[in-house]
Amino acid sequence: LRKIVIAIDGYSACGKSTTAKEVAKILGYKYIDSGAMYRAVTYYFLEHYVSLSNPKEIEAALNKIKITFHVNDDMETETFLDGLKIEKEIRKMRISDNVSQVSAIKPVRLAMVKQQRQLGREKGVVMDGRDIGTVVFPDAELKVFMTADMQVRAFRRQQELLQSDKMVDLVEVMENIHMRDQIDTTRVESPLRKAEGAIEINTTHITIDEQVDAVVQLAINRI
Ligand code: C5P
Repeated sequence: LRKIVIAIDGYSACGKSTTAKEVAKILGYKYIDSGAMYRAVTYYFLEHYVSLSNPKEIEAALNKIKITFHVNDDMETETFLDGLKIEKEIRKMRISDNVSQVSAIKPVRLAMVKQQRQLGREKGVVMDGRDIGTVVFPDAELKVFMTADMQVRAFRRQQELLQSDKMVDLVEVMENIHMRDQIDTTRVESPLRKAEGAIEINTTHITIDEQVDAVVQLAINRI
């Protein structure tokens, strides 16, 4: 069997990472959360007061930042920044509120795309994000574009946050998702859009198992 690259893109909180993780597990592939990388950069920028309008500060910060992933005993992928586990931190609203502004910066994207290509060079990888099928792996054997209704997305994300983080009200989550979609789709650098040849999956009315099955079937047809 040949190994393929599976690119999963779409709007915020459509179930991309939940699906990607599960598909990777089933196929024995590596899962890469590209959003976690942008969140890690955002975390660093906030911690070090990097000015988003100062190219020199941004460049210096990007040269210092080292993002790595580690699979723990529960088989969950955790994000590390300079050897420090920041998985919990990067899921907080503080990061969600700033990540799309940071992700719109060209040098930030160039640095992340370079690392993402490196991580996927041996194939056998499921990567989720906003520009995976359009920019990072335009030749991916399988491209999926996920969508879902706003109410469903906000509710699911709120439930997810309640489990790990803190109380966040539905309106705040909805506003954040809306803002990120807005910035992600209208930015000049690699705006979010459906890649050529991508297969659209709307997750509004289907279960996690159903969306996972759909992607696994599509993958098997291409292996
Ligand atoms: O996937 P997640 O929602 O964690 O991504 C957080 C943010 O990172 C997105 O809203 C987007 O601004 C940015 N992102 C990106 N390109 C990617 C992945 C994420 O610009 N490939």
